[in-house]
Parts: sequence; structure tokens; C-alpha cells
Amino acid sequence: MDQDLWSAVDAYLDAKLISPDTTLDAALEAVVAAGMPPISVSPTQGKLLYLLANLKGARRILEVGTLGGYSSIWLARSLPPEGRLVTLELERKHAEVAQANVDRAGLRDRVEILVGPAAQTMPGLDGPFDMVFIDADKPSIPIYWAEALRLTGPGALIIVDNVVRNGAVVDASSQDASVQGVRAFMEMLAEESRVETTAVQTVGAKGYDGFVIAIMK
Ligand code: SAH
Ligand code: DHB
Ligand code: MG
Repeated sequence: MDQDLWSAVDAYLDAKLISPDTTLDAALEAVVAAGMPPISVSPTQGKLLYLLANLKGARRILEVGTLGGYSSIWLARSLPPEGRLVTLELERKHAEVAQANVDRAGLRDRVEILVGPAAQTMPGLDGPFDMVFIDADKPSIPIYWAEALRLTGPGALIIVDNVVRNGAVVDASSQDASVQGVRAFMEMLAEESRVETTAVQTVGAKGYDGFVIAIMK
């Protein structure tokens, strides 16, 4: 493990590949200033979400877990003017910071932030969404996954963050509820015939983790 090197490479890739962006910088600064956890997707990961949403031609995107809206801004920037991102957040304070960041990004008309426990808000949503990004509390990933399948149709793209957890995902005896949530989700995938799925391990400024990437058949 060499976190310093992973962070240095991430900084190098950011400098080469991601245009300087005061709006995104300000969004991250607002997260720090509000004392919220520094767990937004990294810039290269945010751009990956943006590129995948573009590739998909997504018009309706659902995000579970808003925090300060950093990933929301990346995703919403991929949308056409009439496209919509719905993003679900438990904490009112996080939603307020996110709303200010979205407004500053000029995306107010494209983004709707719904406050409350996602396990309660998701069942009230109507699909279909073209893309879903699951990035809230990890113990509930199985619930969010089941709802994401309900809310999507053929060809939809579903991405789940934090499925490796520094490698802890392979520890069957882990008592960590987040690891157990990811492992229960992986068991669901092992039995799931409605999607084609892969996973990508990642290293970088956020350590060692990974994404599940799934497409509805
Ligand atoms: N996607 C964001 C980071 C999300 S961090 C980004 O990359 O910028 C995870 C967020 O999920 C936190 O803001 C946390 O408050 C929220 N969260 C935790 N439990 C939740 C729940 N039960 N329902 C909805 N959101 C939840
Ligand atoms: C945590 C949550 C995340 O969504 C993430 O990407 C990294 C860390 C956490 O709760 O520790
Ligand atoms: Mg995450």
C-alpha cells in the first residue's frame, strides 16, 4: 500500500486530464467548510461518471447519496437541458450545502434534491431512469440495488461506489456493517440474471476501493 504515491498520481492525472474548474473546486471547499466528511468522489472518478452518463445519453439520472453535490454536478453536466438528476440525501444540512453548490454550478433547473432516508424516498419514485449512481450508506446497498432494478429498464446503467473497502470485501467474517452490506449485495449479483455486471478496483486519493458497473439486459 502506498497512499502517498496513489495521491500523487491522482493529482498528476487531474492536472493533465481535468480542466481547472472553479465551480467544482468551490463545491469541495463548501463541503470542507461545512465540516462534512471528505468522501465526495475524486475528480477523475467524477469525470468517469460524467463520461459514462454521456456515453449512455442519459436523460434521467438517479443518485443515492448527495453529500455536497460534487458527484451530482458531474452527472448533471452530462444531461441535455431537458434532462433531470434526482438525488437523495438523508441529512438536511448536506442537502442545503449541495443545493448551494448546484445553484452556483447553474444546474438548479436540472437537479432535484430529495431529503430523507433513501430507503423511504426511493419506493416513492417513478422510473424509468437511464442511470443510477448508488453512493449512500453501505449497509443499505442491497435495498438501493433492489429499488434501482425496479426503477430502470433495458440498457440502463447502474454504478455502485465503495464495493472494495480497502480489500475488506473478501473478509467473510467481517463484523463491519458496511462490509456486510457490500457482501450481501455481491451475493445478490451472483444470483441476478437481469443484469450484466463487472467491478473495477480503484486506487487513488481516496485509497483502495472500487465500483460495480451493471447494465440492465
Ligand atoms: N455522492 C457524493 C458522496 C456521497 S457520501 C459525492 O460523491 O459527491 C454519502 C452520503 O449519503 C452522505 O451525504 C450521507 O449523509 C448520505 N446518506 C447516508 N445514509 C443515507 C440514507 N439512509 N439515505 C440517504 N442518504 C444517506
Ligand atoms: C465513505 C463513504 C463513501 O461513499 C466513500 O466513497 C468513501 C468513504 C465512508 O463512509 O467512509
Ligand atoms: Mg462513495
